Amino acid sequence: MFLSTNRASELFPAFQKELGESFNEREIRLMIRLALEKRLGLERGQLLFLNECRLSESDINFFENLLGRLQKGEPYQYILGEAHFYGLTLSSDQRALIPRPETEELVAWILEEQKEGKHTLIDWGTGSGCIALAIKAERPEWKVYAADLSEESLELAAHNGSKLDLDIQVLKADILNPDQTEVASSCDIWVSNPPYIPLKDREHMNSNVLDYEPSMALFVPDEDPLKYYRNLAEGAVKMLPDTGKIYLEVHEEYGAEVEQLFLSLKFREVSLRQDLQGKNRMLRAVK
Ligand SMILES: C[S@@+](CC[C@H](N)C(=O)[O-])C[C@H]1O[C@@H](n2cnc3c(N)ncnc32)[C@H](O)[C@@H]1O
Repeated sequence: MFLSTNRASELFPAFQKELGESFNEREIRLMIRLALEKRLGLERGQLLFLNECRLSESDINFFENLLGRLQKGEPYQYILGEAHFYGLTLSSDQRALIPRPETEELVAWILEEQKEGKHTLIDWGTGSGCIALAIKAERPEWKVYAADLSEESLELAAHNGSKLDLDIQVLKADILNPDQTEVASSCDIWVSNPPYIPLKDREHMNSNVLDYEPSMALFVPDEDPLKYYRNLAEGAVKMLPDTGKIYLEVHEEYGAEVEQLFLSLKFREVSLRQDLQGKNRMLRAVK
């Protein structure tokens, strides 16, 4: 047994000993907290009394399995099957990218600029559905489309929509050919967090991303890193209604180039915004 007693309070030192080189203390505490919440149904306040909390044999097996999979580099969101995004608990598995905190900032920007009115939004490359669902949860009166080319991602996004009882329309669509998606012309807000990592960056990336997350969600060819942005921008010239807006997550090193692209196509109010880490991460443009 990897614990010497069945007290839940032993979990942290045991995980710290095995994972301390790969994760910091805050990350280990977070993973244990989320696993306890999921496995034992504990709530945050109860976590203060872990010394009194006893684990059954099957709980101990669960935590031992969790530890082994974390040691192999599997992301905890895939192991637990859940990811948290903008106050929502989404199902998460290898069918789609794990939602990232930077993307919550993109959602916050859209909400901050659209406090009133009824809009129709399309999320290009929806993955787990995180952006579309967070918007729908905050603005239930909007019509929200969640588009992706990956059938598997669309299944997960649809599952998340029904699990959270949020009525989004999931559809198969290609970011590289937006004009083939008829509903796009009825959407006055376009949003996308498209693939944007040049393949050459692979060598600097952690194996927990490379070995587990779908490469279709991540990479672009080195010789054309703006591929998705150019197709979205040109598609928006044709299909986005006048005064419509587009919001994009961008690679920190290509923000200025994406900005230039939108300016060259005569978009107005083109604005780059930094994320909480101070990196160029988001762009908004108005047609
Ligand atoms: C960076 S992930 C973003 C996922 C999700 N929106 C998020 O923020 O976590 C990019 C998404 O684009 C999708 N994708 C890749 N190529 C695509 C294409 N040509 N057309 C539509 N979606 C595409 C991938 O399947 C993936 O779900």
